[in-house]
Formats: sequence, structure tokens, C-alpha cells
Amino acid sequence: MRKEHKTIGGYIELQLPEGQEHYPSFIKLNTGRNALEYLLRIKKYTLVYLPYFTCEVLLEPLRRLSIPYRFYRIDRHLDPVIDFELEENAVLLYTNYFGIKQDTVHELSRTVKNLIIDNAQAFFHPPVTGVDTFYSCRKFFGVPDGAYLYTESNTRLSLESDISVYRFSHLIKSIDLSIETGYHDYLKNNIILGNNPIKKMSVLSQRILSGINYEDCCSIRNANFQHLHQALGPINQLPINLVPIDGPMVYPLVIDQSDARKELIAKKIFVATYWPNVLEWASGDLFEHYLTRHLLPLPVDHRYGTRDMDHMIKTVRSLL
Ligand SMILES: Cc1ncc(COP(=O)(O)O)c(C=O)c1O
Repeated sequence: MRKEHKTIGGYIELQLPEGQEHYPSFIKLNTGRNALEYLLRIKKYTLVYLPYFTCEVLLEPLRRLSIPYRFYRIDRHLDPVIDFELEENAVLLYTNYFGIKQDTVHELSRTVKNLIIDNAQAFFHPPVTGVDTFYSCRKFFGVPDGAYLYTESNTRLSLESDISVYRFSHLIKSIDLSIETGYHDYLKNNIILGNNPIKKMSVLSQRILSGINYEDCCSIRNANFQHLHQALGPINQLPINLVPIDGPMVYPLVIDQSDARKELIAKKIFVATYWPNVLEWASGDLFEHYLTRHLLPLPVDHRYGTRDMDHMIKTVRSLL
């Protein structure tokens, strides 16, 4: 059958810069959680070890596939405490926290046979060869959804494409109105993203991801992170090794100041809670509980420069 020629004429559509995606050869899916589902389906694991300290949406695929899970702990370096034997068909899921745990990812790849790396917070860290790794794009770029999956397995699921135009409003409202005006839509669109079936990445997200200058985004993140670390490193309770860090998601500042988050938000520095569900999963005496309450993830992304970092440093210091 002859393929129809594309439509010619009509109105002019939104123009997006043309270029290349950062991981063009990886499997392209609609969400990070569904990338995990993809892996679980093709690898047929029967038990998942999950850190207490992670996002609850990762439970969606486990529930959907009725795969049991057990929580494990992390230490003060955010490294996993593996004081258990992994069963033959079990897999360990580790999060490359804030994009600063590449060393641990390498170490685990040498010691753990069945391993999945969650690089949702570490977009710029390429996978370790042979280690199943997934990425979520919306934590780093202005896209409604999108995920990449790296696996050496040749098994492929047959999927239809997602459509993300109906989850897009917060991204354009923030430009024409303000980020605050778009926030309600952001929350609404987050809910719509929940329990979505596994699909291929939408054409819209792919087109946006093809027009990004990844080199710039990565180097801006590095410069901002280093700037914050130079000033706030001495008061940060979280030990940070700068060497393996490349394009981190945020600067994770941990200070023993219970009201700091509220005060920063009051001063229009929006710092999220990673993750509210951890307060339910982990008992009050666990490090994960403390971390969730005291972590201030300071933004370092491509929207900001040295002046913004200095403003955050000054504001944080005023809270001490
Ligand atoms: C650490 C982590 N992993 C995975 C995900 C899931 O990514 P997605 O929203 O693309 O499903 C999230 C958040 O949503 C996350 O915070």
C-alpha cells in the first residue's frame, strides 16, 4: 500500500527547535514508573527490594503486576544497607539520589547480580553497561512526561503511543502567566499521570526533548551545584563527594532546622518534600524519616545562575 503524503498547508504549528534526544537509542516510554513495569515484565522478577527512601509512585507497577516488595534501609551516605541475601528471582532497586550517587551505582553493579537503577534524579548519568536503568524526563526538562529505559535484554513489549497534550497546560501557563498560576494544573496533571498504562513516549514529549541543548543544561547544573556546595557544604549534614557528580537534579541540603522548608517557601524558594510517603513507610527513629523532614532540595537547574544561587545562600543563612 502506498503511504499517504503528509498534509500540506493549513495553519502554522508551534515551532520547536530540531535536534537530537540525549538517549536516542534507548526504549522510549511514557513514565519512569512504567519503565520499571517494562523491566519487571520482561525480566519476570518475583520480588523487589525497594528503598524506604523513594517515591510512592514506584509501587504502581508492583501493585499492577502483583509483585511483592520489601523495603531496605540506606545509611547517612545514602548507600544501601544490604544486610540480607537476595533470593534467586529477586531484584534490588536503587535510586541514584539527586544524581550524586554514581559511585554507589558502580559499586552495586559489581556486587549485585539482579539490579535496577532508578536514574529519575540522574538524567545526565549514563547507565553502567549491562545494568537495567531508567530515566524520567519531567524532573529535568519542561515536558509533561517521558522516560527512557536502557536494558541489554532483546525482549520488547508491543505498545501504543501515549498522547500528552491534555497534561500540558502547566507548562504553557507558567510562560504566559506565572509558575504559581500553573501550579494547580501541575498538581492536576500529576494525578492524571498516575496509574496510566504503559505506553510509548508521546510524539509531543519526544519533539520537545529533541530540541534541548543538553550540554548547556548539564554544565549550568554543575556550576550552580558547585557554587552552593562551596557556600553551604560546611553546614550540610549530608556528606557529598563532588568528583563523580555530573548534571545533578538539585543540591541536597540537610540542616537540623524543622521550619526551614516552610520559611523558604514563604520567601518564594519552592523546595519539595522528598517524599511525604516515607514518613508513613519508615518509623520515626529511622534515618530516612529524619532525612525526609530535614532535606532541602535546592534547585540548580538551567533556569538559574550565580545571582539566584547567591540569593538562596543568603536566605538559607538567614534561617540559621
Ligand atoms: C525517584 C523517582 N523515581 C521514579 C519516579 C517516577 O517517575 P515518573 O513520574 O516519570 O513515573 C519518581 C517520581 O515521580 C521519582 O521521584
